[in-house]
Amino acid sequence: MDESRLKEKAAVKAIPYVPKEGFVGIGTGSTVKFLIKLLVEESRKYSDVTFVPTSLETMYLLNSGGLRTSTEFHGSIAIDIDGADEIDPNGNLIKGGGAALTREKIVAANSQKLIIIADQSKLVNKLGKFKVPVEILPFLAEQTIQNIENKGCKVTLRPENKNRSDNGNIVIDSDFGLIDNVQDIQTKLKMIPGVVEVGIFHGMTWKTIVGKNSGVEEINY
Ligand code: A5P
Repeated sequence: MDESRLKEKAAVKAIPYVPKEGFVGIGTGSTVKFLIKLLVEESRKYSDVTFVPTSLETMYLLNSGGLRTSTEFHGSIAIDIDGADEIDPNGNLIKGGGAALTREKIVAANSQKLIIIADQSKLVNKLGKFKVPVEILPFLAEQTIQNIENKGCKVTLRPENKNRSDNGNIVIDSDFGLIDNVQDIQTKLKMIPGVVEVGIFHGMTWKTIVGKNSGVEEINY
């Protein structure tokens, strides 16, 4: 089955987890777009929900489908549903392929539960084949990149028309090879002045819903 069909299957299974009131975080990416499409189709059911978008693109898609969004909220977000670039057996993630990692992590950190929706290609035994996205300030960016490489990776720059986050910062990709200790890499990178956020999400996932050729699997952590 083709990947987008598997993404859609995962999104369908996530719908019952969307509450009918309160705040709901919505991630970014092609898998989440299927979820948004389903929400928009039933937008009347969600008239008491305020969605917290993790990117301008997601905000636009929700708003143009008649769903309410806010980036200023009081209290906590019940559920956040997002995609991922890689998912390890403990639910640790690499995210940020679409440059939305910082807002995605803020929303995830302020949500009671993070649900990841993905196709089966995202499941890995060890994170790191997908290069770790890192958002950095443009100020002295070359020095920051050097300091990132000094932690034991090779940095790749994205094409200039695709290297900016919604926050106006630069997103680079760091290749550590397969990572033994994701928490350690996350902490080391986060400590570098100029690093805004790291695309490693350690210990945040509550559940992954995976579209597979054989059906949809829900993995709880
Ligand atoms: C956005 O920056 C990413 O974190 C996405 O969540 C991730 O790239 C998954 O995207 P797809 O659903 O398009 O695979």
